[in-house]
Amino acid sequence: MKGVVLASGLGTRLMPLTAATNKHLLPVFNQPMIFYPIQTLAKAGVDEVLVVTGGPHAGHFLPVLKNGKELGLKHLEFAFQDGTGGIPAALSLAEDFADNDSLVVILGDNTTDADISQAVANFKNGAGIFLKKVSDPERFGVPEFDSQDKTRIVKIEEKPTSPKSGFAVTGLYIYDNQVFDIIRTLKPSGRGELEITDVNNHYLKNGQLAWFELEGFWSDAGTFDSLFFSNQYWAQKTSPNNKQD
Ligand code: G1P
Repeated sequence: MKGVVLASGLGTRLMPLTAATNKHLLPVFNQPMIFYPIQTLAKAGVDEVLVVTGGPHAGHFLPVLKNGKELGLKHLEFAFQDGTGGIPAALSLAEDFADNDSLVVILGDNTTDADISQAVANFKNGAGIFLKKVSDPERFGVPEFDSQDKTRIVKIEEKPTSPKSGFAVTGLYIYDNQVFDIIRTLKPSGRGELEITDVNNHYLKNGQLAWFELEGFWSDAGTFDSLFFSNQYWAQKTSPNNKQD
């Protein structure tokens, strides 16, 4: 299993912070944001990683990540995304890197202290998504569960105005190599982008979508509120000043 961190986009919701650098290099307490998803992968034994980036500050990643060794990686590659186009457009650049292997995909602004090792180790084929209970599901992809069988997802909706559950589909995914063929069939959504929710619904229709609930903290960090929330959590968890004797 290989890993992909998606760190492109222009971070417009965080302007003017993102005028000077890429969103994924902004601080989350004492580390650049992108360290967290890379550490999540390394902790799960995924040590061959591709970072997909783009935009005017793409060159800033190299002096920060170097060859990835300090973060526990054996191999680190970069891909450059020309323009935007949504998460699947960024992921499509990982096809050569995947080389028919399965992929753990993490959005570069998602930080979590959950351990995904078991889901990664047990994965065989199809797709896996990670859910987390949140107070504002309308900001995310949201699963709807079967009214009888509460463990069965019937549909995922992207940023629904009336969410059918209290879960967010987090930006952590596991895909087999079919994902690239699925991406080729996608059409842009109302917001003019390819949607990762459409990829997940495709696997769901084929009966190939597993889900896991993330244990522990999870947040994205693409808005001022969520960036602040992430900083607060990691500061409390990490700061030596907060450790009890
Ligand atoms: C994206 C996905 C959404 C997912 C979220 C997790 O949203 O489209 O399904 O729940 O990431 O961070 P976006 O960051 O584009 O608002």
